[in-house]
Amino acid sequence: MARKRRGEGQTALVTGASAGIGVDLAECFAQDGYNLVLAARSADALRDVATRLAAKHKVTATPIAADLQVQGGGSKLAAEIKKQGLTVDVVVNNAGYGIAGAFDGSKLDEQLGMIDLNDRALVELTHIYWPQMLKNKRGGVLNVASTAAFQPGPLMAIYYASKAFVLSFSEALWEEANGTGVHVSCLCPGPTQSKFRDRAGTGKTRLSNRKVMTSMEVARQGYAGFRNNKRVVITGFSNAMTARLVPFLPRRTLLKIVRGVQSPKEG
Ligand SMILES: NC(=O)c1ccc[n+]([C@@H]2O[C@H](COP(=O)([O-])OP(=O)(O)OC[C@H]3O[C@@H](n4cnc5c(N)ncnc54)[C@H](OP(=O)(O)O)[C@@H]3O)[C@@H](O)[C@H]2O)c1
Repeated sequence: MARKRRGEGQTALVTGASAGIGVDLAECFAQDGYNLVLAARSADALRDVATRLAAKHKVTATPIAADLQVQGGGSKLAAEIKKQGLTVDVVVNNAGYGIAGAFDGSKLDEQLGMIDLNDRALVELTHIYWPQMLKNKRGGVLNVASTAAFQPGPLMAIYYASKAFVLSFSEALWEEANGTGVHVSCLCPGPTQSKFRDRAGTGKTRLSNRKVMTSMEVARQGYAGFRNNKRVVITGFSNAMTARLVPFLPRRTLLKIVRGVQSPKEG
Protein backbone atom coordinates (compact mmCIF):
# COMPACT_ATOMS: atom_id res chain seq x y z
CA MET A 1 0.00 0.00 0.00
CA ALA A 2 1.32 3.47 -0.93
CA ARG A 3 2.47 5.58 2.03
CA LYS A 4 0.05 8.43 2.87
CA ARG A 5 1.63 11.74 1.99
CA ARG A 6 1.88 14.34 4.77
CA GLY A 7 -0.37 16.91 3.09
CA GLU A 8 -3.13 14.61 1.89
CA GLY A 9 -6.57 16.07 2.60
CA GLN A 10 -5.12 19.56 3.05
CA THR A 11 -4.92 22.57 0.73
CA ALA A 12 -2.12 25.11 0.41
CA LEU A 13 -2.85 28.56 -0.98
CA VAL A 14 0.31 29.88 -2.66
CA THR A 15 0.45 33.54 -3.73
CA GLY A 16 2.81 34.63 -6.48
CA ALA A 17 2.60 31.14 -7.95
CA SER A 18 2.85 32.16 -11.62
CA ALA A 19 6.66 32.53 -11.60
CA GLY A 20 9.85 32.14 -9.58
CA ILE A 21 10.01 30.90 -6.00
CA GLY A 22 6.21 30.58 -5.72
CA VAL A 23 6.04 27.97 -8.48
CA ASP A 24 8.66 25.85 -6.73
CA LEU A 25 7.10 26.29 -3.31
CA ALA A 26 3.81 25.10 -4.82
CA GLU A 27 5.63 22.08 -6.25
CA CYS A 28 7.14 21.19 -2.84
CA PHE A 29 3.67 21.23 -1.25
CA ALA A 30 2.16 19.23 -4.14
CA GLN A 31 4.94 16.63 -3.90
CA ASP A 32 3.87 16.04 -0.30
CA GLY A 33 0.21 15.58 -1.32
CA TYR A 34 -1.24 19.05 -0.63
CA ASN A 35 -3.94 20.23 -3.03
CA LEU A 36 -3.16 23.69 -4.32
CA VAL A 37 -4.87 27.03 -4.83
CA LEU A 38 -2.54 29.18 -6.91
CA ALA A 39 -2.88 32.96 -7.07
CA ALA A 40 -1.16 35.75 -9.04
CA ARG A 41 -2.18 38.22 -11.75
CA SER A 42 -1.06 36.24 -14.84
CA ALA A 43 -3.97 33.88 -15.54
CA ASP A 44 -2.30 31.94 -18.38
CA ALA A 45 0.94 31.29 -16.50
CA LEU A 46 -1.03 30.21 -13.42
CA ARG A 47 -3.12 27.80 -15.47
CA ASP A 48 0.03 26.23 -16.95
CA VAL A 49 1.59 25.77 -13.49
CA ALA A 50 -1.65 24.30 -12.12
CA THR A 51 -2.02 21.83 -14.99
CA ARG A 52 1.60 20.68 -14.75
CA LEU A 53 1.67 20.25 -10.95
CA ALA A 54 -1.72 18.53 -10.77
CA ALA A 55 -0.70 15.94 -13.37
CA LYS A 56 2.79 15.37 -11.98
CA HIS A 57 1.85 15.05 -8.29
CA LYS A 58 -1.72 13.68 -8.49
CA VAL A 59 -3.28 16.58 -6.57
CA THR A 60 -5.92 19.16 -7.46
CA ALA A 61 -4.59 22.60 -8.37
CA THR A 62 -6.93 25.56 -8.82
CA PRO A 63 -5.59 28.71 -10.47
CA ILE A 64 -7.27 31.97 -9.44
CA ALA A 65 -6.14 35.22 -11.07
CA ALA A 66 -5.93 37.92 -8.41
CA ASP A 67 -4.26 41.29 -7.96
CA LEU A 68 -3.26 41.31 -4.29
CA GLN A 69 -1.79 44.80 -4.39
CA VAL A 70 -5.21 46.46 -4.55
CA GLN A 71 -7.10 47.22 -1.34
CA GLY A 72 -9.23 44.23 -0.42
CA GLY A 73 -7.41 41.96 -2.90
CA GLY A 74 -6.91 39.28 -0.25
CA SER A 75 -10.58 39.28 0.80
CA LYS A 76 -11.69 39.11 -2.84
CA LEU A 77 -9.41 36.09 -3.39
CA ALA A 78 -10.72 34.39 -0.24
CA ALA A 79 -14.32 34.99 -1.38
CA GLU A 80 -13.56 33.36 -4.74
CA ILE A 81 -11.90 30.38 -3.00
CA LYS A 82 -15.02 29.94 -0.83
CA LYS A 83 -17.30 30.32 -3.86
CA GLN A 84 -15.46 27.45 -5.54
CA GLY A 85 -16.13 25.27 -2.46
CA LEU A 86 -12.46 25.15 -1.44
CA THR A 87 -10.86 25.48 1.99
CA VAL A 88 -7.35 26.56 2.91
CA ASP A 89 -5.13 24.88 5.52
CA VAL A 90 -1.79 26.51 4.71
CA VAL A 91 -1.17 30.04 3.42
CA VAL A 92 2.10 30.64 1.58
CA ASN A 93 2.46 34.42 1.38
CA ASN A 94 5.07 34.62 -1.36
CA ALA A 95 3.88 37.34 -3.81
CA GLY A 96 6.11 40.37 -3.56
CA TYR A 97 8.33 42.78 -5.39
CA GLY A 98 11.14 45.24 -4.77
CA ILE A 99 12.32 48.47 -6.36
CA ALA A 100 15.97 49.52 -6.03
CA GLY A 101 17.05 53.17 -5.96
CA ALA A 102 17.12 56.24 -3.75
CA PHE A 103 13.89 57.22 -1.99
CA ASP A 104 14.33 60.69 -3.47
CA GLY A 105 12.96 60.63 -7.01
CA SER A 106 11.13 57.32 -6.49
CA LYS A 107 7.53 56.86 -7.61
CA LEU A 108 5.18 56.98 -4.63
CA ASP A 109 2.71 54.48 -6.10
CA GLU A 110 5.50 51.90 -6.54
CA GLN A 111 6.79 52.49 -3.00
CA LEU A 112 3.33 52.18 -1.46
CA GLY A 113 2.57 49.25 -3.75
CA MET A 114 5.41 47.30 -2.13
CA ILE A 115 3.85 47.85 1.30
CA ASP A 116 0.40 46.92 -0.06
CA LEU A 117 1.59 43.64 -1.59
CA ASN A 118 4.52 42.58 0.62
CA ASP A 119 2.82 43.47 3.91
CA ARG A 120 -0.87 44.45 3.77
CA ALA A 121 -2.02 41.56 1.57
CA LEU A 122 0.09 39.13 3.61
CA VAL A 123 -1.58 40.28 6.84
CA GLU A 124 -5.02 40.23 5.22
CA LEU A 125 -4.74 36.62 4.02
CA THR A 126 -3.19 35.46 7.28
CA HIS A 127 -5.97 37.15 9.27
CA ILE A 128 -8.66 35.47 7.16
CA TYR A 129 -7.37 31.89 7.55
CA TRP A 130 -5.67 32.04 11.00
CA PRO A 131 -8.74 31.38 13.24
CA GLN A 132 -9.67 28.21 11.34
CA MET A 133 -6.06 26.95 11.52
CA LEU A 134 -6.09 27.37 15.31
CA LYS A 135 -9.48 25.65 15.51
CA ASN A 136 -8.22 22.75 13.34
CA LYS A 137 -4.91 22.60 15.27
CA ARG A 138 -3.08 22.11 11.99
CA GLY A 139 -1.86 23.93 8.88
CA GLY A 140 -0.02 27.22 9.11
CA VAL A 141 1.60 30.14 7.40
CA LEU A 142 4.81 30.27 5.38
CA ASN A 143 5.75 33.91 4.82
CA VAL A 144 8.43 34.85 2.32
CA ALA A 145 10.62 37.71 3.57
CA SER A 146 14.25 38.14 2.50
CA THR A 147 17.73 38.53 3.95
CA ALA A 148 16.84 42.22 3.46
CA ALA A 149 14.70 41.81 6.59
CA PHE A 150 17.70 41.81 8.93
CA GLN A 151 18.89 45.41 8.39
CA PRO A 152 17.78 48.77 6.97
CA GLY A 153 18.43 49.13 3.23
CA PRO A 154 19.64 52.52 2.03
CA LEU A 155 18.93 52.78 -1.74
CA MET A 156 16.14 50.19 -1.42
CA ALA A 157 14.63 51.50 1.80
CA ILE A 158 10.97 50.54 1.50
CA TYR A 159 11.63 47.00 0.26
CA TYR A 160 14.00 46.26 3.17
CA ALA A 161 11.54 47.80 5.64
CA SER A 162 8.64 45.82 4.15
CA LYS A 163 10.57 42.58 4.64
CA ALA A 164 11.59 43.54 8.21
CA PHE A 165 7.84 43.82 8.86
CA VAL A 166 7.28 40.31 7.47
CA LEU A 167 10.03 38.87 9.68
CA SER A 168 8.82 40.62 12.84
CA PHE A 169 5.16 39.70 12.24
CA SER A 170 6.02 36.07 11.45
CA GLU A 171 8.19 35.57 14.53
CA ALA A 172 5.48 37.04 16.75
CA LEU A 173 2.85 34.74 15.22
CA TRP A 174 5.17 31.75 15.64
CA GLU A 175 5.18 32.44 19.38
CA GLU A 176 1.40 32.98 19.48
CA ALA A 177 0.92 29.62 17.76
CA ASN A 178 3.36 27.80 20.04
CA GLY A 179 1.84 24.50 21.20
CA THR A 180 -1.29 24.76 19.02
CA GLY A 181 -0.13 22.48 16.19
CA VAL A 182 -0.16 25.42 13.75
CA HIS A 183 3.18 26.07 12.05
CA VAL A 184 4.64 29.50 11.20
CA SER A 185 7.87 29.96 9.26
CA CYS A 186 9.52 32.98 7.74
CA LEU A 187 11.57 32.15 4.66
CA CYS A 188 14.45 34.59 4.10
CA PRO A 189 16.12 34.03 0.74
CA GLY A 190 19.20 35.89 -0.45
CA PRO A 191 19.64 36.62 -4.17
CA THR A 192 17.65 33.98 -6.09
CA GLN A 193 17.17 33.27 -9.81
CA SER A 194 13.76 34.63 -10.82
CA LYS A 195 12.11 37.59 -12.52
CA PHE A 196 12.50 39.54 -9.27
CA ARG A 197 15.72 41.34 -10.19
CA ASP A 198 14.36 42.55 -13.58
CA ARG A 199 11.48 44.29 -11.83
CA ALA A 200 13.60 45.43 -8.87
CA GLY A 201 16.54 46.67 -10.91
CA THR A 202 18.96 44.91 -8.54
CA GLY A 203 20.80 43.41 -11.53
CA LYS A 204 22.45 46.83 -11.96
CA THR A 205 23.66 47.03 -8.34
CA ARG A 206 26.72 45.52 -6.67
CA LEU A 207 24.33 43.08 -4.98
CA SER A 208 24.20 41.23 -8.30
CA ASN A 209 27.86 40.16 -7.80
CA ARG A 210 26.65 37.91 -4.95
CA LYS A 211 26.07 34.16 -5.41
CA VAL A 212 22.56 33.44 -6.69
CA MET A 213 20.60 30.32 -5.63
CA THR A 214 18.02 28.56 -7.79
CA SER A 215 14.38 29.10 -6.88
CA MET A 216 13.95 25.35 -6.30
CA GLU A 217 16.86 25.24 -3.80
CA VAL A 218 15.22 28.13 -1.94
CA ALA A 219 11.75 26.54 -2.06
CA ARG A 220 13.01 23.15 -0.79
CA GLN A 221 14.71 24.78 2.19
CA GLY A 222 11.59 26.88 2.87
CA TYR A 223 9.26 23.89 2.70
CA ALA A 224 11.52 21.74 4.92
CA GLY A 225 11.65 24.59 7.45
CA PHE A 226 7.86 24.97 7.44
CA ARG A 227 7.37 21.22 7.94
CA ASN A 228 9.57 21.40 11.03
CA ASN A 229 7.94 24.63 12.26
CA LYS A 230 11.32 26.37 12.01
CA ARG A 231 10.75 30.01 12.97
CA VAL A 232 13.19 31.57 10.51
CA VAL A 233 14.71 29.88 7.46
CA ILE A 234 17.66 31.70 5.90
CA THR A 235 18.67 30.05 2.66
CA GLY A 236 22.35 29.33 2.00
CA PHE A 237 25.26 29.15 4.43
CA SER A 238 26.81 32.55 3.63
CA ASN A 239 23.43 34.33 3.81
CA ALA A 240 22.78 32.74 7.21
CA MET A 241 26.24 33.73 8.49
CA THR A 242 25.81 37.33 7.27
CA ALA A 243 22.40 37.64 8.92
CA ARG A 244 23.84 36.33 12.23
CA LEU A 245 26.69 38.88 12.05
CA VAL A 246 24.43 41.91 11.53
CA PRO A 247 23.43 42.51 15.20
CA PHE A 248 27.11 42.73 16.17
CA LEU A 249 28.03 45.45 13.65
CA PRO A 250 27.89 49.14 14.61
CA ARG A 251 24.72 50.51 12.97
CA ARG A 252 26.57 53.28 11.04
CA THR A 253 29.04 50.75 9.61
CA LEU A 254 26.19 48.44 8.67
CA LEU A 255 24.34 51.24 6.86
CA LYS A 256 27.48 52.12 4.87
CA ILE A 257 27.99 48.45 3.90
CA VAL A 258 24.38 48.03 2.71
CA ARG A 259 24.53 51.33 0.83
CA GLY A 260 27.68 50.05 -0.92
CA VAL A 261 25.99 46.77 -1.88
CA GLN A 262 22.91 48.61 -3.18
CA SER A 263 24.98 51.12 -5.22
CA PRO A 264 25.15 50.88 -9.01
CA LYS A 265 27.86 48.62 -10.43
CA GLU A 266 30.82 50.42 -11.97
CA GLY A 267 31.51 50.05 -15.70
N1 LIG B 1 14.53 36.62 -6.19
C1 LIG B 1 15.18 37.11 -5.17
O1 LIG B 1 16.37 37.44 -5.27
C2 LIG B 1 14.48 37.23 -3.84
C3 LIG B 1 15.26 37.37 -2.69
C4 LIG B 1 14.65 37.51 -1.45
C5 LIG B 1 13.27 37.46 -1.35
N2 LIG B 1 12.52 37.33 -2.47
C6 LIG B 1 11.06 37.33 -2.30
O2 LIG B 1 10.54 36.13 -2.86
C7 LIG B 1 9.19 36.34 -3.23
C8 LIG B 1 8.97 35.77 -4.63
O3 LIG B 1 9.77 36.51 -5.54
P1 LIG B 1 10.45 35.86 -6.83
O4 LIG B 1 11.91 36.02 -6.68
O5 LIG B 1 9.90 34.53 -7.12
O6 LIG B 1 9.98 36.96 -7.90
P2 LIG B 1 9.16 36.83 -9.28
O7 LIG B 1 9.74 35.79 -10.15
O8 LIG B 1 9.08 38.24 -9.77
O9 LIG B 1 7.71 36.34 -8.80
C9 LIG B 1 6.84 37.19 -8.10
C10 LIG B 1 5.47 36.56 -8.03
O10 LIG B 1 4.59 37.48 -7.36
C11 LIG B 1 3.45 37.70 -8.20
N3 LIG B 1 2.92 39.06 -8.05
C12 LIG B 1 3.54 40.22 -8.31
N4 LIG B 1 2.71 41.24 -8.14
C13 LIG B 1 1.51 40.70 -7.76
C14 LIG B 1 0.24 41.25 -7.43
N5 LIG B 1 0.01 42.58 -7.49
N6 LIG B 1 -0.76 40.41 -7.09
C15 LIG B 1 -0.55 39.07 -7.05
N7 LIG B 1 0.63 38.49 -7.34
C16 LIG B 1 1.64 39.30 -7.70
C17 LIG B 1 3.98 37.48 -9.63
O11 LIG B 1 2.93 37.11 -10.50
P3 LIG B 1 2.15 38.08 -11.50
O12 LIG B 1 3.16 39.01 -12.09
O13 LIG B 1 1.55 37.12 -12.47
O14 LIG B 1 1.13 38.77 -10.66
C18 LIG B 1 4.90 36.28 -9.40
O15 LIG B 1 4.15 35.10 -9.39
C19 LIG B 1 8.92 37.84 -3.12
O16 LIG B 1 8.21 38.10 -1.93
C20 LIG B 1 10.32 38.44 -3.04
O17 LIG B 1 10.35 39.66 -2.33
C21 LIG B 1 13.09 37.21 -3.71
